[in-house]
Amino acid sequence: MDVYGLIGNPVGHSLSPPMHEAGYEALGLDARYVTFEPAADSGADAIDAAKTLGIDGLNVTIPFKQDVLDAVDPAPLAERIGAVNTVDFTGETPTGYNTDAVGAVRALRHHDVALSGTAVVVGAGGAGRAVAFGLADAGLSVRIANRTESKADGLADEVPDASGHGLDSLPDLLADADILVNCTSVGMDEDATPVPADALHGDLAVLDAVYTPIETRLLQDAAAAGATTVDGAWMLLYQGVEAFERWTGEDAPVDRMNSQLRERL
Ligand code: ATR
Repeated sequence: MDVYGLIGNPVGHSLSPPMHEAGYEALGLDARYVTFEPAADSGADAIDAAKTLGIDGLNVTIPFKQDVLDAVDPAPLAERIGAVNTVDFTGETPTGYNTDAVGAVRALRHHDVALSGTAVVVGAGGAGRAVAFGLADAGLSVRIANRTESKADGLADEVPDASGHGLDSLPDLLADADILVNCTSVGMDEDATPVPADALHGDLAVLDAVYTPIETRLLQDAAAAGATTVDGAWMLLYQGVEAFERWTGEDAPVDRMNSQLRERL
């Protein structure tokens, strides 16, 4: 039996176990997905322990995404982002990936969004970093807007073909943008949005990383403006799909994993 899992603290409400196990079942794989909750300062130790125990793959979430970098051989994109959310133990050294970055790109691609032109990323925290690097890697020009403008500037210095801005620049930035991704926590469990509704337009594709609620104020405003909308569950799904495929070497049964995830949201 293959054993995969998640380390985080807390991990109690994670949707990853049912999502991954739906995938194993659909493909007839003899595998399980288990959650682990190490102490907050034990991320790197947990990677060493997982290797010793013969665990095949781990997802990594808050607060360990940066800490585990020292315990793995990071893939180039994970190294540039400075955070790992997926570890593959099949080689001599555990390899670290960041599937949050690719997850955003694959969520957009699933909705036939063209990955060219200009993307506006709102937020410069952990999610904003991953998405900004992911979109730049996919060939987009990235504009980062953040409440604390200095953080947007700092991130833009690291991401190729990127610039940093304050939130007040959003209307100007969006006027000729192709893609907008919300990577702030604004909209989570509240009827608020980080983007003025009248800055949205029908030529945009809007992805919201927030998935509680699934239909955020931002996505409602975007739909009313005629934009293509992609909810946060697609990003959650595709970071998992990408990890699943790295670990198993199989094409993930995306529809089955998606329906299992949405049943629980
Ligand atoms: P995550 O790992 O989910 O990205 P984070 O690293 O704490 O979480 O980042 C949160 C992001 O949401 C940041 O970009 C933050 O802006 P600041 O850098 O200015 O703090 C943004 N954010 C949180 N609350 C916000 C609010 N009320 N208005 C605008 N931006 C907000």
